[in-house]
Amino acid sequence: MNSFNIFALQTKRRDMSKKTIIGFIPIVFGLIIVTAFAYQSNFINLDVSIPKSLSNISIDNDHFIFNKNGEKLKLYTIEDENRTTDKWQLSQFDEVEKGNKDGIEFHFKKDFSGTLIYGLYAYEPMDYPIAVYFKKHEKIENGKAFINIREQLSGVYDLALWKSRKKGRLAYRVLDNKNNIIFNKSISFIVNEGFTIVPDIVWGPFLSIQTENKITLKFATNLKCTPIVSVNNINYDLKESKNHEITIIDLDDGKQYDYSIQIGDIIHKSTLKTAPKTGNQAKFTFAFSSDSRGGTLKGETNTKGHNADIIKKMATLAAFKKVDFWQFTGDMIDGYKIDRDEMELEYTNWLTSISPFMHSIPLNVGMGNHEVLMNVFGDPKDYMSIDGFPYDERSGESLFASFYANPINGPDSEDGSKYDPDYKSIDFPSYKENVYSYVYANMAMIVLNSNYWYSPNHNIIPLIGGNAHGYVMDNQLEWLKSEIAKFEKDGNIQHIFVSIHTPAFPNGGHSKNDMWYNGNNEVRPWIAGKKVDKGIIERRDEILDILVNKSEKFRVLLTGDEHNYSRLIVNQETKRYPENWTATKLKLKRPFVQIVNGAAGAPYYAQETLPWTPSVKKFSSQYALVLFNIEGNKIEVEVINPNTLELIEKVEL
Ligand SMILES: [Fe+2]
Repeated sequence: MNSFNIFALQTKRRDMSKKTIIGFIPIVFGLIIVTAFAYQSNFINLDVSIPKSLSNISIDNDHFIFNKNGEKLKLYTIEDENRTTDKWQLSQFDEVEKGNKDGIEFHFKKDFSGTLIYGLYAYEPMDYPIAVYFKKHEKIENGKAFINIREQLSGVYDLALWKSRKKGRLAYRVLDNKNNIIFNKSISFIVNEGFTIVPDIVWGPFLSIQTENKITLKFATNLKCTPIVSVNNINYDLKESKNHEITIIDLDDGKQYDYSIQIGDIIHKSTLKTAPKTGNQAKFTFAFSSDSRGGTLKGETNTKGHNADIIKKMATLAAFKKVDFWQFTGDMIDGYKIDRDEMELEYTNWLTSISPFMHSIPLNVGMGNHEVLMNVFGDPKDYMSIDGFPYDERSGESLFASFYANPINGPDSEDGSKYDPDYKSIDFPSYKENVYSYVYANMAMIVLNSNYWYSPNHNIIPLIGGNAHGYVMDNQLEWLKSEIAKFEKDGNIQHIFVSIHTPAFPNGGHSKNDMWYNGNNEVRPWIAGKKVDKGIIERRDEILDILVNKSEKFRVLLTGDEHNYSRLIVNQETKRYPENWTATKLKLKRPFVQIVNGAAGAPYYAQETLPWTPSVKKFSSQYALVLFNIEGNKIEVEVINPNTLELIEKVEL
């Protein structure tokens, strides 16, 4: 870590003409000004067109209005919100550090008082570099603070050996005046006459989109810089940005490579591995979990948006178990915000928490309901909200895609479905990076999004339009059908897993929604003032028909949303319908397994009694990381509490 450049062996240097950088839309920091402007234009500039897929939304007196049965509800704006809540945004922590002769001054872009906790990264080889906090902290007053490194962090406290090395790396944590944890960040400095902040990584690198011969690296830096990524003795120059994404191509299958990221004279080193050749029978392990959003109000269990206490332990366990990749399907953060900048802070905190553990483990994430970035009408307490538009700037989908690198092999959007009100205009958000599939050895993973174009209050969907929590819309269903057919035909694929945030059969916490709604099939999306043909339970059955009856390789439905672990085996005998159900009942040709694991730190739910409860094989309210150990035909499920390392269950499917 942070050592000198050893890459004398470099054989050739490529620039980015051959694809490789998709200059990670500079959302996190770079677009702050642009997005702030976008908000303004969204609320004031009436040029923003209202998607035709919605209804009863119009412009009235220079405001967007939702006409709720004659009641005109004005779009709730960030300006309205500022008057009532204590808001924290990522931009308030952007380039706020400045070196002086003795240490580092902090000028946060917000007037507040609080506490600054800090500590150095030790100068020693560490596979999982992480700082340790110093025994003292500093006060933040009027948004300003100072760490006197020369005085406080010298001698026996100089873990970084900054005095002799003339450089170091420091982690800091901002608490508000009630000791809530608001933000974590790391910065690097050099020492000459005084201290100077230099560019370095703030979160990442994360590995994603792992295939037999490619892998994508993604990371963010505190300042604009031009990092050099080196893999297999080839250097790749990244273009100047704070947000970096690069896909390394032409790699060999199933091979581990050393890689490094050089920023100035700082070098971060790690390893990456490509996926084995498709069809490979050798044993591998992947981890599954979801729902790490904030657990309580205080402490690490709510590090502004997520439960850092548990997610860090999960990442530690995943790294310790040397998992080959991690699938995390939704509700990473609290979300449900109207301010993109505020949600960017939450995503950044999540990524920062798991960064030390994840530089060698590919991460694939899916969307949940909490990833929604909303447009809200009237009083926010009434939940008159829809997925934010314009969809390319303010939807939950667009924000999600900017923070993660996922495959882009999913469907385009719900445009073009039989309900699309206008085939020429874009009336729906994109599925790109939130619905996708990937292959690892002899398995295929299909990731769905049951919170696409999500309107959080299903009771107003008939009036305003949008999709209900848990519902997979038509184009996505068609895509699922074609993916399943594709993998069924592929002789190299033995197992198909499908991951979706909401269970087909909720067991603890979400019987009132997910794909059940207490047996109310009326719930469904409304598009341009019309309801779609299929209700939520009928749609659930259509999904199961594809997965169970039209596939022989589908093994497990991996879900979350409920903050617990459950394993359910559903077969033809399992009761699956409300008492008064008169429509067709789906005949299941074979049993299948549903695993719920929303146990990554969100507040807990106990078990509920539902028609299918007799088929529940295991239910646990412990925090849980699910590991799938796959070898040829064999699939073993190993469920471990990351807090205690207790084995919750280990069974062969
Ligand atoms: Fe959820």
